[in-house]
Amino acid sequence: MAQAFPKIGYPKAWAPGDLRPDDWRLGISQAAIGELGRAVAALKAADAKLPAPKPTDFDLGLCADFARAMKQRLEAGPGFVVVSRLPVEDWGIDGIRYAWWLLGSLVDRPQPQYIEGFWLYDVRWLGDWDADDEQARRLRDAEIKAHTDESLKDVGPRYTGLLWAAKARAGGNSRVSSCAFAHDLLHDERPDLLARLYEPFLFHPFRPVDPNAVHWHPVFRRYGSHVRCQFARDYIAGGAKRWERPLDAAGAEAIERFEAILERFALDFPMEPGEFEILDNDLITHGRSQHVDWAATKQRRHLMRLWLGTSGAVYDGPPPRL
Ligand SMILES: [Fe+2]
Repeated sequence: MAQAFPKIGYPKAWAPGDLRPDDWRLGISQAAIGELGRAVAALKAADAKLPAPKPTDFDLGLCADFARAMKQRLEAGPGFVVVSRLPVEDWGIDGIRYAWWLLGSLVDRPQPQYIEGFWLYDVRWLGDWDADDEQARRLRDAEIKAHTDESLKDVGPRYTGLLWAAKARAGGNSRVSSCAFAHDLLHDERPDLLARLYEPFLFHPFRPVDPNAVHWHPVFRRYGSHVRCQFARDYIAGGAKRWERPLDAAGAEAIERFEAILERFALDFPMEPGEFEILDNDLITHGRSQHVDWAATKQRRHLMRLWLGTSGAVYDGPPPRL
């Protein structure tokens, strides 16, 4: 059975102890920040609106070199990179938005997010009923378990980027795990559960989507030599609930075991304002520890998310019996 799903292997399959900081941490040079600063000033003066700004509108040769170094970590390294740091205190929230957009665009083309089509999604909870969306109100300051973004959709972002514009008073560490490592561990220990993850599940999120859309696909799929993982335990629980189709015993055990491996073998680290991470959304999960925020609204933790590039294809297996 397991021969059908060969191991993915190093470097994408890693446990935290396998990595050195140099494998995943990069510093952006002052010269590249200088380039970005000139672009930020021009975009502020023009009051530019996303998605109009393009890297080719500016002289960003050093930033393009830096984006190639990031991509090397994403494609030939551990599948994620953490970068220190952009001067959020000098450029302000509007300036950092432009700089992050331009750097992300040099990695891959930004994609619209959610049914609203956000080009850059602000991850924050203000505790204000009018300002907070449904997702912010649901997640608040809670721990977020290991997941890939937009796991319900057959075609989703190739890379997820998160920039810390402001950090919480305490907690809220970034947690990054390798789906490839969890895949390979199940391959050795429970090939029956790994096989179940290659069979479909229903997915449904807790935010506004087309209520009649049926999201039905496996957690793992292979496209030639490329392996893609789509995982969010709460979306799979949401799919079972939305369509009143309780998970089969093997499916429930596979999901629980898979999430437990991702949580146990997560790399856990704090993020400072102006730092950002970019992850291979096909094989690397992200999550965050619970946090305690500031009382003042304008000090609150503020992350900016980009989705870059696309991956995946429509699932062509038999449809679910609903
Ligand atoms: Fe996420």
